[in-house]
Amino acid sequence: MKISALLSLVPLVAALPGSRIGTTKTKDVNAPFGVTAARSGSPIHFLPLTASGSHFFLGGKSSTYCPSEVVPGCAGRTNDTIIYGQSALDVVVPGGQSIYVAPSGALSFTTPHSGYIPAGSSQGPFVYTPGASGNPLGTWTYSGQGASGFMACPVPASNSGSAAARRAAAAAPPTWQVYAAQQNATVPTGNVTDCLGFDALAVGMNVTSNSLAWEYI
Ligand SMILES: *[C@@H]1O[C@H](CO)[C@@H](O)[C@H](O)[C@H]1NC(C)=O
Ligand SMILES: *[C@@H]1O[C@H](CO)[C@@H](O)[C@H](O)[C@H]1NC(C)=O
Ligand SMILES: *[C@@H]1O[C@H](CO)[C@@H](O)[C@H](O)[C@H]1NC(C)=O
Ligand SMILES: *[C@@H]1O[C@H](CO)[C@@H](O)[C@H](O)[C@H]1NC(C)=O
Repeated sequence: MKISALLSLVPLVAALPGSRIGTTKTKDVNAPFGVTAARSGSPIHFLPLTASGSHFFLGGKSSTYCPSEVVPGCAGRTNDTIIYGQSALDVVVPGGQSIYVAPSGALSFTTPHSGYIPAGSSQGPFVYTPGASGNPLGTWTYSGQGASGFMACPVPASNSGSAAARRAAAAAPPTWQVYAAQQNATVPTGNVTDCLGFDALAVGMNVTSNSLAWEYI
Protein backbone atom coordinates (compact mmCIF):
# COMPACT_ATOMS: atom_id res chain seq x y z
CA MET A 1 0.00 0.00 0.00
CA LYS A 2 1.15 3.52 -0.73
CA ILE A 3 2.43 5.63 2.18
CA SER A 4 -0.07 8.36 1.28
CA ALA A 5 -2.90 5.88 1.68
CA LEU A 6 -1.55 4.88 5.08
CA LEU A 7 -1.23 8.47 6.22
CA SER A 8 -4.84 9.13 5.32
CA LEU A 9 -5.78 6.42 7.80
CA VAL A 10 -4.26 8.11 10.83
CA PRO A 11 -7.38 10.20 11.63
CA LEU A 12 -9.43 7.05 11.18
CA VAL A 13 -7.29 5.22 13.70
CA ALA A 14 -7.64 8.04 16.18
CA ALA A 15 -11.40 7.81 15.77
CA LEU A 16 -11.75 4.04 16.13
CA PRO A 17 -14.52 3.54 18.67
CA GLY A 18 -13.66 1.91 21.95
CA SER A 19 -10.07 1.37 20.94
CA ARG A 20 -7.09 2.03 23.12
CA ILE A 21 -4.36 2.78 20.68
CA GLY A 22 -0.93 1.95 22.10
CA THR A 23 0.95 5.16 22.68
CA THR A 24 4.35 3.56 23.02
CA LYS A 25 5.24 2.02 19.69
CA THR A 26 6.39 -1.52 20.06
CA LYS A 27 7.96 -3.95 17.63
CA ASP A 28 6.60 -6.84 19.66
CA VAL A 29 5.07 -9.23 17.14
CA ASN A 30 3.15 -10.87 19.99
CA ALA A 31 1.50 -7.62 21.12
CA PRO A 32 -2.29 -7.15 20.87
CA PHE A 33 -3.87 -5.52 17.81
CA GLY A 34 -7.22 -4.92 16.14
CA VAL A 35 -7.80 -5.25 12.39
CA THR A 36 -9.45 -2.88 9.92
CA ALA A 37 -9.91 -3.87 6.27
CA ALA A 38 -8.50 -1.66 3.52
CA ARG A 39 -9.65 -1.92 -0.07
CA SER A 40 -10.26 1.55 -1.40
CA GLY A 41 -13.36 2.19 -3.48
CA SER A 42 -15.12 -0.89 -2.12
CA PRO A 43 -17.91 -1.37 0.43
CA ILE A 44 -15.51 -3.16 2.81
CA HIS A 45 -13.04 -0.27 3.06
CA PHE A 46 -12.34 0.52 6.75
CA LEU A 47 -14.73 -2.10 8.12
CA PRO A 48 -13.44 -3.65 11.37
CA LEU A 49 -12.71 -7.38 11.70
CA THR A 50 -15.26 -8.94 14.07
CA ALA A 51 -15.32 -12.40 15.65
CA SER A 52 -18.69 -14.10 15.93
CA GLY A 53 -19.98 -17.67 15.85
CA SER A 54 -16.51 -19.25 15.46
CA HIS A 55 -15.94 -17.18 12.31
CA PHE A 56 -14.76 -13.71 11.34
CA PHE A 57 -16.62 -10.95 9.52
CA LEU A 58 -16.03 -7.38 8.36
CA GLY A 59 -18.39 -4.96 10.05
CA GLY A 60 -21.19 -6.01 12.36
CA LYS A 61 -20.52 -6.76 16.01
CA SER A 62 -18.16 -9.12 17.76
CA SER A 63 -19.89 -11.74 19.85
CA THR A 64 -18.46 -11.85 23.36
CA TYR A 65 -19.57 -13.51 26.56
CA CYS A 66 -18.63 -12.84 30.17
CA PRO A 67 -20.08 -14.86 33.08
CA SER A 68 -20.97 -11.89 35.28
CA GLU A 69 -22.11 -14.13 38.15
CA VAL A 70 -18.51 -15.29 38.67
CA VAL A 71 -16.34 -12.67 36.93
CA PRO A 72 -16.20 -9.12 38.30
CA GLY A 73 -16.12 -6.14 35.93
CA CYS A 74 -17.79 -7.73 32.91
CA ALA A 75 -19.37 -4.41 31.85
CA GLY A 76 -15.94 -2.82 31.32
CA ARG A 77 -14.71 -5.55 28.98
CA THR A 78 -14.18 -4.73 25.32
CA ASN A 79 -16.55 -5.83 22.59
CA ASP A 80 -13.92 -5.21 19.93
CA THR A 81 -12.04 -8.12 18.39
CA ILE A 82 -8.46 -8.10 19.63
CA ILE A 83 -5.80 -10.54 18.47
CA TYR A 84 -2.44 -11.23 20.08
CA GLY A 85 0.43 -13.70 19.72
CA GLN A 86 -0.09 -13.48 15.92
CA SER A 87 -2.90 -16.05 15.79
CA ALA A 88 -5.01 -16.09 18.96
CA LEU A 89 -7.91 -14.06 20.28
CA ASP A 90 -6.83 -11.95 23.25
CA VAL A 91 -9.08 -13.41 25.95
CA VAL A 92 -9.06 -14.22 29.64
CA VAL A 93 -10.87 -17.57 29.49
CA PRO A 94 -8.53 -20.40 30.55
CA GLY A 95 -7.09 -22.26 27.58
CA GLY A 96 -7.40 -19.25 25.28
CA GLN A 97 -8.85 -19.25 21.79
CA SER A 98 -6.77 -20.02 18.68
CA ILE A 99 -7.29 -18.71 15.16
CA TYR A 100 -7.05 -21.08 12.19
CA VAL A 101 -8.24 -21.52 8.61
CA ALA A 102 -10.87 -24.25 8.23
CA PRO A 103 -10.75 -26.66 5.24
CA SER A 104 -13.41 -24.47 3.56
CA GLY A 105 -10.96 -21.55 3.72
CA ALA A 106 -13.04 -19.75 6.39
CA LEU A 107 -11.01 -17.84 8.96
CA SER A 108 -12.12 -19.42 12.24
CA PHE A 109 -11.54 -19.47 15.99
CA THR A 110 -11.73 -22.26 18.55
CA THR A 111 -14.64 -22.27 20.97
CA PRO A 112 -13.93 -21.61 24.67
CA HIS A 113 -12.79 -24.61 26.76
CA SER A 114 -11.96 -26.54 23.59
CA GLY A 115 -8.80 -26.60 21.54
CA TYR A 116 -10.63 -28.49 18.80
CA ILE A 117 -9.47 -27.68 15.28
CA PRO A 118 -10.98 -29.76 12.43
CA ALA A 119 -8.66 -32.08 10.49
CA GLY A 120 -7.39 -30.45 7.30
CA SER A 121 -7.33 -26.96 8.85
CA SER A 122 -4.31 -24.68 8.58
CA GLN A 123 -2.78 -22.95 11.60
CA GLY A 124 -0.62 -20.54 9.67
CA PRO A 125 1.62 -18.91 9.08
CA PHE A 126 -0.17 -15.83 10.40
CA VAL A 127 2.18 -12.88 10.72
CA TYR A 128 1.61 -9.61 12.57
CA THR A 129 3.96 -6.84 11.50
CA PRO A 130 3.66 -3.87 13.88
CA GLY A 131 3.66 -0.36 12.41
CA ALA A 132 7.00 1.34 12.02
CA SER A 133 8.06 3.90 14.62
CA GLY A 134 5.51 6.73 14.82
CA ASN A 135 2.94 4.82 12.76
CA PRO A 136 0.20 2.93 14.61
CA LEU A 137 -0.68 0.88 11.52
CA GLY A 138 0.89 -2.47 10.86
CA THR A 139 -0.38 -5.45 8.91
CA TRP A 140 -1.64 -8.95 9.57
CA THR A 141 -1.26 -11.61 6.90
CA TYR A 142 -1.92 -15.29 6.31
CA SER A 143 0.16 -17.25 3.83
CA GLY A 144 -0.68 -20.90 4.56
CA GLN A 145 -1.75 -23.24 1.73
CA GLY A 146 -0.60 -20.83 -0.95
CA ALA A 147 -3.04 -18.12 0.19
CA SER A 148 -2.18 -14.47 -0.28
CA GLY A 149 -3.75 -12.89 2.77
CA PHE A 150 -7.49 -12.56 3.25
CA MET A 151 -10.64 -11.96 1.26
CA ALA A 152 -14.17 -10.94 2.23
CA CYS A 153 -17.01 -12.94 0.73
CA PRO A 154 -20.64 -11.79 0.66
CA VAL A 155 -23.08 -13.97 2.57
CA PRO A 156 -26.40 -14.04 0.66
CA ALA A 157 -29.35 -12.85 2.71
CA SER A 158 -31.74 -15.59 3.66
CA ASN A 159 -34.38 -16.32 1.02
CA SER A 160 -36.91 -17.47 3.54
CA GLY A 161 -39.46 -15.61 5.64
CA SER A 162 -42.18 -13.15 4.67
CA ALA A 163 -41.99 -10.94 1.61
CA ALA A 164 -41.34 -7.97 3.91
CA ALA A 165 -38.47 -9.84 5.61
CA ARG A 166 -36.97 -10.70 2.21
CA ARG A 167 -37.25 -7.06 1.05
CA ALA A 168 -35.57 -5.88 4.26
CA ALA A 169 -32.79 -8.45 3.82
CA ALA A 170 -32.26 -7.40 0.18
CA ALA A 171 -32.04 -3.73 1.17
CA ALA A 172 -29.55 -4.32 3.98
CA PRO A 173 -25.82 -4.11 3.23
CA PRO A 174 -24.36 -7.58 2.68
CA THR A 175 -22.65 -9.47 5.45
CA TRP A 176 -18.99 -10.04 4.59
CA GLN A 177 -17.35 -13.20 5.89
CA VAL A 178 -13.56 -13.46 5.99
CA TYR A 179 -11.73 -16.27 4.18
CA ALA A 180 -8.12 -17.02 3.36
CA ALA A 181 -7.51 -15.66 -0.14
CA GLN A 182 -7.26 -19.00 -1.90
CA GLN A 183 -8.90 -19.99 -5.18
CA ASN A 184 -10.27 -23.28 -3.86
CA ALA A 185 -12.13 -21.75 -0.89
CA THR A 186 -15.73 -22.90 -0.46
CA VAL A 187 -17.49 -19.53 -0.16
CA PRO A 188 -21.13 -18.68 0.68
CA THR A 189 -22.17 -17.69 -2.87
CA GLY A 190 -20.33 -20.68 -4.33
CA ASN A 191 -18.18 -18.44 -6.53
CA VAL A 192 -14.85 -17.15 -5.29
CA THR A 193 -14.93 -14.29 -7.82
CA ASP A 194 -17.65 -12.71 -5.65
CA CYS A 195 -15.02 -12.17 -2.91
CA LEU A 196 -12.89 -9.06 -2.44
CA GLY A 197 -9.25 -9.36 -1.39
CA PHE A 198 -8.25 -6.80 1.23
CA ASP A 199 -5.29 -5.58 3.25
CA ALA A 200 -5.69 -6.37 6.95
CA LEU A 201 -4.43 -3.21 8.65
CA ALA A 202 -3.34 -4.04 12.19
CA VAL A 203 -3.70 -1.34 14.82
CA GLY A 204 -1.63 -1.91 17.95
CA MET A 205 -3.79 -1.85 21.09
CA ASN A 206 -2.92 -1.13 24.69
CA VAL A 207 -5.29 -3.30 26.69
CA THR A 208 -5.11 -4.53 30.25
CA SER A 209 -6.40 -7.93 31.35
CA ASN A 210 -9.29 -6.06 33.03
CA SER A 211 -10.48 -4.69 29.69
CA LEU A 212 -9.96 -7.78 27.50
CA ALA A 213 -12.96 -9.79 26.40
CA TRP A 214 -13.59 -12.79 28.66
CA GLU A 215 -14.25 -14.94 25.58
CA TYR A 216 -15.59 -14.76 22.04
CA ILE A 217 -18.50 -17.01 21.10
C1 LIG B 1 -0.38 1.36 28.08
O1 LIG B 1 -1.14 2.17 28.97
C2 LIG B 1 -0.55 2.27 30.25
C3 LIG B 1 -1.53 3.00 31.16
O2 LIG B 1 -2.22 4.01 30.46
C4 LIG B 1 0.82 2.97 30.12
O3 LIG B 1 1.43 3.05 31.39
C5 LIG B 1 1.71 2.13 29.20
O4 LIG B 1 2.94 2.78 28.98
C6 LIG B 1 1.01 1.91 27.87
N1 LIG B 1 1.81 0.97 27.05
C7 LIG B 1 1.95 1.11 25.75
C8 LIG B 1 2.74 0.03 25.07
O5 LIG B 1 1.49 2.06 25.12
C1 LIG C 1 -19.95 -4.94 25.79
O1 LIG C 1 -21.28 -5.42 25.63
C2 LIG C 1 -21.92 -5.76 26.85
C3 LIG C 1 -23.26 -6.38 26.51
O2 LIG C 1 -23.95 -5.58 25.60
C4 LIG C 1 -22.04 -4.53 27.74
O3 LIG C 1 -22.62 -4.87 28.96
C5 LIG C 1 -20.64 -3.96 27.96
O4 LIG C 1 -20.73 -2.76 28.70
C6 LIG C 1 -19.92 -3.71 26.65
N1 LIG C 1 -18.55 -3.30 26.94
C7 LIG C 1 -18.06 -2.13 26.58
C8 LIG C 1 -16.64 -1.85 26.98
O5 LIG C 1 -18.73 -1.31 25.94
C1 LIG D 1 -6.51 -25.63 -1.56
O1 LIG D 1 -5.32 -25.44 -2.26
C2 LIG D 1 -4.16 -25.46 -1.43
C3 LIG D 1 -2.96 -25.09 -2.27
O2 LIG D 1 -2.88 -25.88 -3.40
C4 LIG D 1 -4.02 -26.84 -0.79
O3 LIG D 1 -2.91 -26.87 0.10
C5 LIG D 1 -5.29 -27.14 0.01
O4 LIG D 1 -5.23 -28.45 0.53
C6 LIG D 1 -6.52 -27.01 -0.86
N1 LIG D 1 -7.69 -27.12 0.00
C7 LIG D 1 -8.71 -27.91 -0.32
C8 LIG D 1 -9.84 -27.97 0.67
O5 LIG D 1 -8.75 -28.57 -1.35
C1 LIG E 1 -18.27 -16.90 -11.18
O1 LIG E 1 -18.52 -15.54 -11.48
C2 LIG E 1 -17.84 -15.10 -12.64
C3 LIG E 1 -18.05 -13.60 -12.75
O2 LIG E 1 -19.37 -13.25 -12.49
C4 LIG E 1 -18.37 -15.85 -13.85
O3 LIG E 1 -17.69 -15.45 -15.01
C5 LIG E 1 -18.13 -17.35 -13.62
O4 LIG E 1 -18.71 -18.09 -14.70
C6 LIG E 1 -18.74 -17.81 -12.30
N1 LIG E 1 -18.37 -19.18 -12.04
C7 LIG E 1 -19.23 -20.08 -11.65
C8 LIG E 1 -18.68 -21.46 -11.38
O5 LIG E 1 -20.42 -19.85 -11.48
